[in-house]
Amino acid sequence: MEINGETHSGEPRPGQCLRTYLREQGCFGVKKGCDSGDCGACTVHVDGRPVHSCVYPAFRAQGRSVTTIEGLAGDDGLHPVQQSFLDAQGFQCGFCTAGMIMTTAALTPEQREDLPRSLKGNLCRCTGYRAVTDAVRGGPESCAPACPAPGTGRAVGSSLGAPAGPAVVTGTARYTFDIDVPGVLHLKVLRSPHAHARIVAIDASAALAVPGVEAVFTHADVPDVLFSTAQHETESEDPYDTRILDDVVRFIGQRVAAVVASSEAAAEEGCRRLVVTYSLLAAVVDPSSAVTSPPIHGDKSESDGISRASSNVVGELHASIGDVSAGFSAADFVYGATFRTPRVQHASLETHGSVGWLDDDGRLVIRSSTQTPFLTRRLLARLYDLPTDRVRVMAGRVGGGFGGKQEMLTEDLVALAVLRLGRPVRWEYTRTEQFTGATTRHPFVVTATAGARRDGTLTALQLDVLVDTGAYGNHGRSVMFHGCHETLAVYRCANMRTDAMTVYTNTVPAGAFRGYGLGQVTFAVEQVLDEVARGIGMDPVTFRERNVVRPGDDLTAPGEHVDDLGIASYGLDQCLDRIRAAGLTQDDAPDGWLVGEGMAIAMIAAGPPGGHFADATIRTLPDGRYELSVGTAEFGNGSTTVHAQIAADELGTTPDRIVIRQSDTDVVAHDTGAFASTGVVVAGRAVLRAARSLKQSPETGVGRGHFDGTPRSVAFNAQWFRVAIDPDTGELRILRSVHSADAGTVMNPGQLRGQIEGGVAQALGATLSEHVDIDADGRVTTTTFRQYHLPTVADTPFTEVHFADTTDAIGPLGAKSMSESPFNPVSPALGNAIRDATGVRMTELPYTADRIWQALQD
Ligand code: FES
Repeated sequence: MEINGETHSGEPRPGQCLRTYLREQGCFGVKKGCDSGDCGACTVHVDGRPVHSCVYPAFRAQGRSVTTIEGLAGDDGLHPVQQSFLDAQGFQCGFCTAGMIMTTAALTPEQREDLPRSLKGNLCRCTGYRAVTDAVRGGPESCAPACPAPGTGRAVGSSLGAPAGPAVVTGTARYTFDIDVPGVLHLKVLRSPHAHARIVAIDASAALAVPGVEAVFTHADVPDVLFSTAQHETESEDPYDTRILDDVVRFIGQRVAAVVASSEAAAEEGCRRLVVTYSLLAAVVDPSSAVTSPPIHGDKSESDGISRASSNVVGELHASIGDVSAGFSAADFVYGATFRTPRVQHASLETHGSVGWLDDDGRLVIRSSTQTPFLTRRLLARLYDLPTDRVRVMAGRVGGGFGGKQEMLTEDLVALAVLRLGRPVRWEYTRTEQFTGATTRHPFVVTATAGARRDGTLTALQLDVLVDTGAYGNHGRSVMFHGCHETLAVYRCANMRTDAMTVYTNTVPAGAFRGYGLGQVTFAVEQVLDEVARGIGMDPVTFRERNVVRPGDDLTAPGEHVDDLGIASYGLDQCLDRIRAAGLTQDDAPDGWLVGEGMAIAMIAAGPPGGHFADATIRTLPDGRYELSVGTAEFGNGSTTVHAQIAADELGTTPDRIVIRQSDTDVVAHDTGAFASTGVVVAGRAVLRAARSLKQSPETGVGRGHFDGTPRSVAFNAQWFRVAIDPDTGELRILRSVHSADAGTVMNPGQLRGQIEGGVAQALGATLSEHVDIDADGRVTTTTFRQYHLPTVADTPFTEVHFADTTDAIGPLGAKSMSESPFNPVSPALGNAIRDATGVRMTELPYTADRIWQALQD
């Protein structure tokens, strides 16, 4: 065959797909997103036609011409489609981008006019497709890298393109597995078929007899150390309830044993040959009965960070402000309902994975798809009793995270194998493992009740919250606290009560996910408040205006007074003004369809409580440029771009003269990690301090900055929809979507717009189509993208994005956080729009057409 114009000879393995074959020839731009032909990240051209190379047998390419992203550019520069993706910044993490470009490059002009059909085979989890369609159609161009913000002469405020853009569009950006590691072994795990069982014995003899199998590791081979897969600066935030390999399995899909072999196929065969004897234990799948069920972690206690292990309670909150009963008595109208949110998956296109080896000094090196390199290093050192400086953790470019990679899911086993065998080892999750063995959003059951007087005064607000953390408590307690806190604290209400509990069940563990609990609680509270506004005859925007917090207010919620949190800038009033203006327009709807509109708001703290540390160093290079070293990882959140802008502005130069090094524990100083929307507000402030320090003492040639993440401000979001619903089918169409955001100083308007569009699109997926199902035994039955229904271009409406004009007193140059928060008001706003259109209050996600139709029949 020809590969990118070069004649190539070789012999694929039996059954090998073209994707893995091309990667073995060094074409790392051909990505793995699903290996089942659903996502398009592996798209290449065969004789000029786009194919999903993961389902295209390699031998069929014999005698044909294959083009990958690496071969698309011509001698005179980028292919026009690559250039348009660069100009329009049609990507965030960029993991889907090579496939998108390859598909687009093969489209006819007619096909480009019908992108919902033409791009249906290419999924993007980050952008919400607006930037992608802009790129395909030649939409808004971003500034060139050195371009200042219009009229200001400054980099901050300009829509600067991502520094990695040229590498992303040419397929040369290097993600976790896009490197050659000579002699690497492959790790695979056998996962539990039982929801709860004790492992009595594991016979590995047949597995070890498989040609190529080098080792089998079981619970007998690992240090008996408890930890949490969740990563926070303060380790005690999460319960210590996990072992690397345990002799008790607590969900279907938990790791039982690891097999390391010279090929993936041999490792998989080794897993199939393991003979495991289990003694079954009683399992609980329904969170509502968890408290009265046999304990899942009965061998642990409060000292392990579990509130009541004997009752399966990880954490709980029972607290009130004022007198809720009196508040309801004083109300003219009271409404309450119970809302349910399902498991949903991060579905980052790059799956979890890591590769490790020993360096020349015998130090452990792990290259991982992680949002937290430093915390991962700290935990690996503790697990294997190594000095921290004997461990190096680095991230390449990360192909999407959304909180899912604030978790250690692969590095511990890879490290074990590397340390035991002294050889390089890799472990890359399959897409199915991503559903069955990674984390999900926490399912919540929230009963919310609110009361108000006819003058619009909110007199009482009460929450009863049940959070299902699954078999392990990673993030379960913090998600509960966070979800309840800001949802209530955004309202001035004298009487509030929260009763919340996070419980274990024998199901796949939940974990951190964009919004960190706020999306689930906001889903309930914002719909209940909508109903209360209706009950007292007040429009929902005015009702919010009467009751939301104002500058100078305390941000206290029941049981939680957070000392380091305050309103350091306030744009919620502007956000509400935008929403009110949106409602003044009209949209065309199909005849006979039901039309309605709805809105919701959300507030989020910029950064987590308990400390979030960032360090930055800037040096002058001999050629006059600057090298900025900052620990935070880049997974499409765009913090790298903003850091370059901040440093350039402060140093009076242009961003193209800032060289950035990041995400490597050997070459940058400590950083808690890229989560909790801290890339701009925490790491960005460290960068600003480093740049100022260098500016003040240029003779030193180096400036250092540190920020501990406190005090913190809050950001605000408001979402509005107008929808049309076909009463005969339940089909829902979004006629208009408007989002207003208060992010303080907008550091990069193009990037922020994209982040909000992506957040709204991700939330629309969770609202309309996505759900990870489990059966009565606790087995995940949604195991492929084809079953999961991620939004495609066709499913994703454009969202108008508006920014409030504010400047924060805490954030760097007045900026606040944003990346997570656009998600949070989307589901309740859509629920309110459906209620307005149909008269039906739907309390369970997702709002699929069949459920809407059924609700209308009921
Ligand atoms: Fe499309 Fe991240 S940019 S998946």
